[in-house]
Amino acid sequence: MARVIAGVGTSHVPAIGAAIDNSITGDDYWSPLFAGYEAARDWMRALEPDVAIVVYNDHASAFSLELIPTFAIGVADEFPPADEGYGPRDVPVVQGHPELAWHLAESLILDGFDMTIANKLPVDHGLTVPLSILFGEVDPWPCPVVPVCVNVIQYPAPTGRRCFQLGQTIARVLEDYPDDLRVVVFGTGGMSHQLQGERAGLINREFDLAFLDALSADPHSLVEKEHVEYLREAGSEGIELVMWLIMRGALPASVKEIHRHYHVPASNTGAGLIVFEPA
Ligand code: DHB
Ligand code: FE
Repeated sequence: MARVIAGVGTSHVPAIGAAIDNSITGDDYWSPLFAGYEAARDWMRALEPDVAIVVYNDHASAFSLELIPTFAIGVADEFPPADEGYGPRDVPVVQGHPELAWHLAESLILDGFDMTIANKLPVDHGLTVPLSILFGEVDPWPCPVVPVCVNVIQYPAPTGRRCFQLGQTIARVLEDYPDDLRVVVFGTGGMSHQLQGERAGLINREFDLAFLDALSADPHSLVEKEHVEYLREAGSEGIELVMWLIMRGALPASVKEIHRHYHVPASNTGAGLIVFEPA
């Protein structure tokens, strides 16, 4: 069987990827952020997961506004870094795990989650930046990835409750997988940020820290949070945080918090990182 051995929640800010790619992580602006990633990178290196399920959102890179799947799963052999307008990031092509991805697609759909099946999926900063944060500058990436893509761009995004239930169902159906696999689940995006309009630049440290506390100890209180609260408190792009609930749903009720890091600012966001293992 496959089982979830750890969960990671992390921001996916493109400028974090650019800082790594341009070797400026040690400068005055970036060093406090990257210092907080060190321990989690060491932990990840020791963990040696067999596969990562990375829950992320596409930012009009693979899916335009012509086609917006609520939940999609990548079943391809590999996923190239997307060209987001300034050329693809110079990072390794992401290797898929088609056997596990098809197992998940089939099991989830038959269980009531109508996943869109993606045979071709260029992956943007939403997926590659979290890999860079946790794995560093490596070639190839240390494990295959199953991308799970969530619409948080176009209203209506799925509810927090639905996201949490998807995570719970992923964990359950992994148990039916024929091979033994140690799986890490990433939830990405957030934390508070708004990239547009009158409130552009909004960062709400209090909200972000309360979210991290609740994700650790009382995730059910987050499951009840409505979209409008994310928008009001965490800004229009703060809604990306619902994807962390998929990761948390895939873990047992009781978890051990291994690492936490929160830093303001990272580009326009409060940047968060949290690492859990089953208690
Ligand atoms: C920024 C953050 C994001 O999550 C994103 O998708 C794009 C930009 C930012 O802070 O600049
Ligand atoms: Fe984003």
